[in-house]
Parts: sequence; structure tokens; C-alpha cells
Amino acid sequence: MHKPILMCVVGTRPDAIKTAPVYLELKAYEHLVESVLVSTGQHREMLDQALGAFGIEADFSLNIMRHGQTLSEITERGLHGLDKLLGQLEPQFVIAQGDTTTTFVAGLAAFYRRIPFGHIEAGLRTDTIWDPFPEEFNRRAVSLVASQHYAPTKLAQKNLETEGISCGKIFITGNTGIDAVQYVGSNSTDTWFEDWPGRVILLTTHRRENWGEPQIRIAEAAAAILDRFEDVLLVVPMHRNPKVREVLEKILGCHPRVRMIEPPAYSAFVQLMKRATLILSDSGGVQEEAPAFGIPVLILRDTTERPEGIKSGNAVLVGTDKEQIVLQSTLLLSDKTAYEKMARAVSPYGDGRAALRIRYLALMHLGIESPEEAMWTS
Ligand code: UD1
Ligand code: UDP
Repeated sequence: MHKPILMCVVGTRPDAIKTAPVYLELKAYEHLVESVLVSTGQHREMLDQALGAFGIEADFSLNIMRHGQTLSEITERGLHGLDKLLGQLEPQFVIAQGDTTTTFVAGLAAFYRRIPFGHIEAGLRTDTIWDPFPEEFNRRAVSLVASQHYAPTKLAQKNLETEGISCGKIFITGNTGIDAVQYVGSNSTDTWFEDWPGRVILLTTHRRENWGEPQIRIAEAAAAILDRFEDVLLVVPMHRNPKVREVLEKILGCHPRVRMIEPPAYSAFVQLMKRATLILSDSGGVQEEAPAFGIPVLILRDTTERPEGIKSGNAVLVGTDKEQIVLQSTLLLSDKTAYEKMARAVSPYGDGRAALRIRYLALMHLGIESPEEAMWTS
């Protein structure tokens, strides 16, 4: 008898990081299911680097990335390529994570072929479809077609129930990003700026809604913070998007206490987060990971679909207003009590066992029993 085929689809850096723990977990059950890793190639170097952190490579890659790609182009090329592969491989189940355009097309392509779809990191919501753009649309759209929704938190579960999704299809699993950070965190030996005696601020920014003016304000705020605090080194791992690089390089590139670096590999990046006193970021994943190490995060966005970190006291939504960023950073860099209140290691997004739960659920959907391992007790 043929084993069922389960297809995991990735395309971007966060897709790789958050899907890898599930794919590796499924691979451990190879005697029961054939797992195939497919990449749209929406990202290129950043995707290969992220998969590399887990020692895996895609079995099939559509290689769609183009510099300056538009959302429609990613959608069109991704959908076309995935549909062809679905026809060729005939999987019984498709899995993708989060809110990228790769995830949207994976859900849509599976829906068109009536193949059940499992959504990792389901149920995150802001109150406007325009922000984050286009991610809020992507994650809402795949919720319409998913057969299983792997909600990372209770709030995500509630969001899905509010939209009328049957509670029998929603499972609280935790976020696989926490599995990932624990996996690489325990293996990494990278060290950062050991010769720098002072503090380090880590800045990452790449979101589409921050392109242009907001990113200019973010960079200017970072420069103003450096002027106020001479013991601070600003480290900026540069997203590969040329639009993002141009702005950051122009405003921060010549400052003697700025280190603009190529995006570090995932395990090295995790060590860099740990080295930081403070993180300024518009990244979704970084917002989830930093609290696990007790590193305060100022979120450079107007909205967040991850309010759990704010509630637990690890993150503050500062937006992209220059004055606000400088004000909040100054508070944390100069007021020990305010800093220590935020710098507590907690994990509002998961316990590192999300992939086990998702493996169990996906196989259950295929009618395959696999060990439960007291998965629901944490
Ligand atoms: C994408 C996701 C976003 C996610 C982010 C993670 C969508 C619409 N956006 O945004 O949700 O937060 O990834 O980083 O799905 N580039 C390279 N090499 C790479 C990756 C990107 O050169 O390995 C450059 C290319 O010029 C590319 C550009 O970056 O055209 C933008 O990539 P794209 O995937 O369209 O958008 P991101 O901003 O990366
Ligand atoms: N990350 C990385 N190298 C970097 C920056 C980020 O490995 O230079 C990791 C980070 O730890 C997190 C993920 O990439 O797991 C987040 O990716 P990104 O910020 O690009 O996307 P988002 O999470 O905002 O969708």
C-alpha cells in the first residue's frame, strides 16, 4: 500500500524557520507518511540560509524570486508552479505557516484541488485588513480554506472562533517559532561583539507598510538614540530587499557606532538577539522570540497581531514616530527599573512542543495514529 504524501510549502525566511520543526518531526514518522518539502523560492539566499540552520533542503523549488517582485507576480508564479506540483505529486495534505504570499498561494492551490490544508500559526489578527499589508489578508484568506487551524495561543483560537470557524477544527499548539528558537539556541556557539564593552541595540526592519517615510523616521530615531548614548552600538542586519537597504545605508551607513551586517544565519541571529540590550523591530518572528530570552522589544509598527508579548510586559508598540521611538528607547536605556520590568524571560507564544502536536493532528487527519506523548499537558 502507498504511504500518503504530506506536502510542506515554504517560500520566505520565516516560512522556513517556522515550518522546519514540523517537517523534521514528520520526517521522524517516515514509515507512516511521505513528507515532501516544497519551496516557491519567493526568497532565495535568505530561505536557503534559514533551511540550512535545520540541515534541510527543499525537495522541489519553483525558484520564483525576482528583484522588485510585485505581490501579483509572486501570487501568479507561485500559484502556477504549486498547482503543477500538486497535480504531479498528488499529496493528501498540504501544510504552510503564517501570512506570507507563499502561504496564501499554498492554501489557494490546495483549495482549488480540494486537498486538505493545515495552517500553522493560525488566527493572528489585527483589526484592519490593510495592516500588516498584505499579510493580514493572507492569513484571513487561508483561514477560509484550512481544514486544521494550528493556533499558537488562546487569543488566536478565540479570533478564529469569532469568525465562525468550527471549534473542532481549531487546536492550540503553541508557535513553532519557539520550537525553532529552542532547537538552534541550544546548538549555537556564535559570539558577537565581545570586544565592545558597551550596550548593543539590534534593529531589524523590512515590512512593506514601513517602506519609504516610516523607515526614514526609524533610521533617524536610531541615529538620535546613538547621539544620546555613547556606550551604545547599533547593529543592523540588513534584509536583502534593496529598497530597505538604500534607506538604512543612507541615514546610518557612515555612523562610527553602526554595524550594518548581512543577515546572519538563524543560529547566529539568535545569539545576536541574546547579546542585545534592546531590540527595535518590525519583524513578526523577532517579537515572538525575544521575550523567550527576556530581551525588551520596541515594535516599530502601528498595529500588532501579537499582543501577547505586550500583555506579558516584554514588548511595547511604539509605531514609527521618531519622537516615540527615541522616548521609549531613552526610558529603557536610562531607567533600570523600567528596563528590568520588561527584561524577564517568559514565553507567551509556546512551550517548544508545537511541532509534536501538529504532527499528531495532521497524521490524525490522514487517519494515522501516532504517539500523543502527553502533548496537551503543558
Ligand atoms: C516577505 C513576506 C513578509 C515577511 C518577509 C520576511 C510577503 C508578501 N511578504 O517580505 O510577510 O515578513 O518576507 O522576511 O509574502 N530578496 C533577495 N533575497 C532573498 C529575499 C529577498 O534578494 O533571499 C529581495 C528581492 O529583491 C525581493 C525583495 O527582497 O524582490 C522582496 O522580497 P519579498 O518576498 O517580495 O518581500 P519581503 O519584504 O521579503
Ligand atoms: N532572522 C534571521 N536573521 C536575520 C533576521 C531575522 O535568522 O538577519 C530570523 C528571526 O530570528 C526570525 C525570522 O528570521 O525567526 C523573522 O524573519 P523576518 O523578520 O524576515 O520575517 P517576519 O517574522 O517579520 O515575517
